[in-house]
Amino acid sequence: MALREIVLYGQPVLRRKAEAVVTIDDSVRELAKDMIETMFTADGIGLAAPQVGVSLAVCVVNNGLIEDEAEPNAYINPVIYEETGSCTIEEGCLSIPDLQEDVTRAEFVRIKYQDIDGVEQDEICAGMLARVLQHEIDHLNGVLFIDRISGIRRKLLEKRLKQIASQT
Ligand code: NI
Repeated sequence: MALREIVLYGQPVLRRKAEAVVTIDDSVRELAKDMIETMFTADGIGLAAPQVGVSLAVCVVNNGLIEDEAEPNAYINPVIYEETGSCTIEEGCLSIPDLQEDVTRAEFVRIKYQDIDGVEQDEICAGMLARVLQHEIDHLNGVLFIDRISGIRRKLLEKRLKQIASQT
């Protein structure tokens, strides 16, 4: 396993739609393991492949921060196909350091994905897991949480966002 560098706001890869994984081979498994290690090291609760500069539909979630002693999980080609309810929670992102904003998202989501062994999974998620998955799946579509806040709030953050972009 190896740590990967987290790319920051301003890098074009964060705005690209990630490509679907066709074959879950050793390189994909290694990517997922590296992402989990990188997420742990950065104290993150989730991480998407574009955040380590790889435009592939892979994300990882630190389930241990959601449910005690749960294993971290990798989601390959995850898609939300049902959502209900709505709730507002403060979010941050490892690619947009030191910036938190309230974001309104669905409360429950139903997702399909492939696990690291290539097995199709279909799960209903609630609470923090539903929240993190929506944030990470947005990343796979080139969407960032700051796209989901009001225009006025976004305007107020512009200076900070420019600062982050200029670091890269
Ligand atoms: Ni993020």
